[in-house]
Amino acid sequence: MTVVLSAHGVRKTYSGFTALDDCSFELHAGRTLGVVGESGSGKSTLGRIVMRLLQPDAGTVELGGTDLFGLRATPLRTARRRIQLVPQDPRHALNPAMTVGDNLRFQFAAQRLPRATWTARTNELLDQVALTRDYVHAWPYELSGGQAQRIAIARAIAGRPDVLVCDEAVSALDKSVQAQVLNTFADLQKEMGVALLFISHDLAVIDHISDDVLVLNRGITVESGRTRDVLGDPQDAYTRELLAARSVVGVP
Ligand SMILES: Nc1ncnc2c1ncn2[C@@H]1O[C@H](COP(=O)(O)OP(=O)(O)O)[C@@H](O)[C@H]1O
Ligand SMILES: [Mg+2]
Repeated sequence: MTVVLSAHGVRKTYSGFTALDDCSFELHAGRTLGVVGESGSGKSTLGRIVMRLLQPDAGTVELGGTDLFGLRATPLRTARRRIQLVPQDPRHALNPAMTVGDNLRFQFAAQRLPRATWTARTNELLDQVALTRDYVHAWPYELSGGQAQRIAIARAIAGRPDVLVCDEAVSALDKSVQAQVLNTFADLQKEMGVALLFISHDLAVIDHISDDVLVLNRGITVESGRTRDVLGDPQDAYTRELLAARSVVGVP
């Protein structure tokens, strides 16, 4: 299997405080790696490092086999298109002063997609995130949380990235909507073969969507492996605590 994103021995400290230590993983093409841990365990720090929004103090990150932090200029711009973020709050991804259609077209312009294909591409993206085509005229403020998150996903996949980093991407949604959006992620993964680095404090969400899982406790990886193995027979007390406290996706 092709490794699309990997980290090796990544450490990040904030003025002496170690938020993430010796973190390593491999994310394979078309698969989902869940990163789970309580608030403050270093999940977003890891997400920001692999997006190259934050520089690690030690360790390496490879995107498509290339050292992400060694890239400059054009190769860096190309790499940035291959890995996209779906944040918890879609308002951070959408421009509130543009309609849904213009939010998407803005991406197409950046990708230098021929103008003649924009309408078809917009429709295709709305289909992929299970929204009807008339959403093209809607304004971000008119959307529900779930609809806005779907548009944020459409925006993130517009350039056909290899990897989506989803940082608490369903955490603000109602439980029932959460299940629907998770299914949309699974569907578009099947369709596009995109790999997901899915970050959540909620083990139920991680269990629902992940092939593999990495459990973080205060920046330390306490356990990792196939989700069914790790959650089926947790070896670490912290994982067992998370399991005992977990909710159920789709059940309020
Ligand atoms: N910019 C920062 N400066 C100082 N401390 C930070 C900063 N960002 C995060 N932290 C701390 O690092 C730890 C991990 O944070 P974060 O990666 O956001 O965890 P999570 O996403 O799992 O909640 C927390 O204790 C947090 O307070
Ligand atoms: Mg976080």
